[in-house]
Amino acid sequence: MKLYHLSGGVNTSNMKVLIVGASGMIGSAIAENLSDMEVIRAGYSSGDVTVDLENNDSIATMYKEIGKIDAVVCASGKAAFGGVDEITEKDVRLSILNKLGGQINLVRIGLDHVNDGGSFTLTSGDLSTKPDKTSSLVTAAGIGVEGFARASAISMPRGIRINVISPSLIRESAIKFNLPLDGSIPVAEAADWFRESLTGEMTGMVRELKGWL
Ligand SMILES: NC(=O)c1ccc[n+]([C@@H]2O[C@H](COP(=O)([O-])OP(=O)(O)OC[C@H]3O[C@@H](n4cnc5c(N)ncnc54)[C@H](OP(=O)(O)O)[C@@H]3O)[C@@H](O)[C@H]2O)c1
Repeated sequence: MKLYHLSGGVNTSNMKVLIVGASGMIGSAIAENLSDMEVIRAGYSSGDVTVDLENNDSIATMYKEIGKIDAVVCASGKAAFGGVDEITEKDVRLSILNKLGGQINLVRIGLDHVNDGGSFTLTSGDLSTKPDKTSSLVTAAGIGVEGFARASAISMPRGIRINVISPSLIRESAIKFNLPLDGSIPVAEAADWFRESLTGEMTGMVRELKGWL
């Protein structure tokens, strides 16, 4: 349950937050940003609890293990790159079951575990609205996540909110993978927007984070 200060701000010290993908580039910056809250770190092979977004039993077990929470953040989700004439059935399955289905199931299965007035924040990416010749599946999965959140916001029970953060290339990832820095954003800036989704009042929103360089 969210408790408000007289100032109208959220009392974040009472918030218990699950971050899926907490060891990742974006997830670790979010965990640092939310250090005033009780953070539960989840990952595929690391964290306070492990989970496989492609496996519904594993998602259900994770929620049972951690108890009631105020917010779920997903900074994870894989989709395959490749031209439409290159992608395989395996690529399609990964993109639909992991980035898209994984995030949908994280919300669907998590609903009963989130307190009244809580929130879900999912991740897409700027290829959703700025596709390139390798992004058929990444764009499809990202747009799917965004559509799911926009529509689900209407039927969310108990005042639970849902938003999507759509970052452009993260600067630290660009450096790590030796990619051009143009249009990239610092990971700390992306983390601020996840925080805003948790502590603000918006729902059904897709926040596009674009960099300028
Ligand atoms: N980085 C960017 O420039 C960028 C830009 C736009 C959008 N995005 C999107 O943002 C999200 C996070 O990206 P990132 O670069 O931060 O990722 P990352 O550094 O590769 O980290 C991925 C995280 O997801 C976890 N994970 C992997 N497979 C999983 C599974 N099957 N089930 C549950 N968790 C799993 C990993 O856990 P373990 O470490 O425990 O294995 C890790 O914590 C992705 O959806 C990505 O498409 C990233």
